[in-house]
Amino acid sequence: MDISQPVARTAFYCCVIRADDAAGADPICGDSFAARFVDDQVRRDLAPATRLRNPAVSNVTRHRMVDDLVREALVSDPHRRVILIGAGFDTRAYRLSGGRYVEIDDASLLAFKEQQLPAAGAPNPVDRIPVVFGSESADRYLGRLAGDDRALVIVEGVSMYLSDDALRQLAAALMRHLPNGTLICDLMSAAFSRRFGGALRKAFTSLGATFGNQSAQPSEIFVRAGMTPVTHRSIPGYAGQLGRLSIPRWLLNTLLRELRDGYQLWVFRWGSAAHA
Ligand SMILES: C[S@@+](CC[C@H](N)C(=O)[O-])C[C@H]1O[C@@H](n2cnc3c(N)ncnc32)[C@H](O)[C@@H]1O
Repeated sequence: MDISQPVARTAFYCCVIRADDAAGADPICGDSFAARFVDDQVRRDLAPATRLRNPAVSNVTRHRMVDDLVREALVSDPHRRVILIGAGFDTRAYRLSGGRYVEIDDASLLAFKEQQLPAAGAPNPVDRIPVVFGSESADRYLGRLAGDDRALVIVEGVSMYLSDDALRQLAAALMRHLPNGTLICDLMSAAFSRRFGGALRKAFTSLGATFGNQSAQPSEIFVRAGMTPVTHRSIPGYAGQLGRLSIPRWLLNTLLRELRDGYQLWVFRWGSAAHA
C-alpha cells in the first residue's frame, strides 16, 4: 500500500503491534481489528521497529489507557463527539460502545482504511476527514468541526512528530473552535526521547518520518496556551503496573525515573470546561 506522507507510515507500526497484542494469550488492549491493516510486507518493512520490545509494550499500553479514558467519558454521554486527530488505524468506533467519531488523517491512509474497514460497517457513526497536514492548518480543519459540545479530542502517537510551533497552533485551534472540549494527548519529554527513544527514532527515520524538534516539557506548551491539566499518568509506569515491562519496578522508581515520568498520557481542558 502506497502512503506518501512519511509520518502516516508510522500508523502501520501501531497496527502491527496492536495486532500482535490482540493475537496473544493475555492482550493489553485487544484491538482485534488491527490485523486487517497488516500483511507480510508491512511486517517485513517494520521489523526493525516492531522488534524493540519496550517501545511496543508502551505503545499498546498507551492505546489501552486512551481506550479506558474514552470508555469512561462515554458512560455519562454516549453521544459524545470523539475527534481523532492523526487517527491512523484507530478502530475505537468499532470497539467501544457509544461515541460519534471523527477520524482525521492523510487521504491515502484513510482510503486504505475505508477499503479494509468501511465506516458504514461501524456500530457507531464515523466521519473520515482527509487532511493534507503539511499544508492545511489545524485552525482550518478544526474550524470545519467547530462546536460548543463536550468534544473529546484524541491526539495519540502524534505529538512527537510535531514542532513546538505546530503544537502551539494545535492548542490555539482547539481552544478557539471547541470551547468545551477535552484533549487526551501523549507527550514525551526531550530527555525521554534522547535517552530512551533513540532506537525507535532511528527505525522510523528510515521510513522517512522526522521527529519534531521539541522543548524539554511539551506539556508546558499546552499550559502556556491556557489549557488546564486535569490528569497525567506515566505510560511506561502503567505498563510496569500491568507487569508487561521488562524493567524492575524499583528501577523505574529510582534510576529510571525519566523513563517513568518522561512519557505520559495527559488530559487537558480549557475555558469554563476546565472547572466542570
Ligand atoms: C504513529 S501514527 C498514530 C496513529 C493513531 N493515532 C494510533 O495511535 O494508532 C501518527 C499519525 O499522525 C498522523 N499525522 C501526520 N502528521 C500529522 C499532523 N501534522 N497532525 C496530526 N496528525 C498527523 C499520521 O498520518 C499518522 O496516522
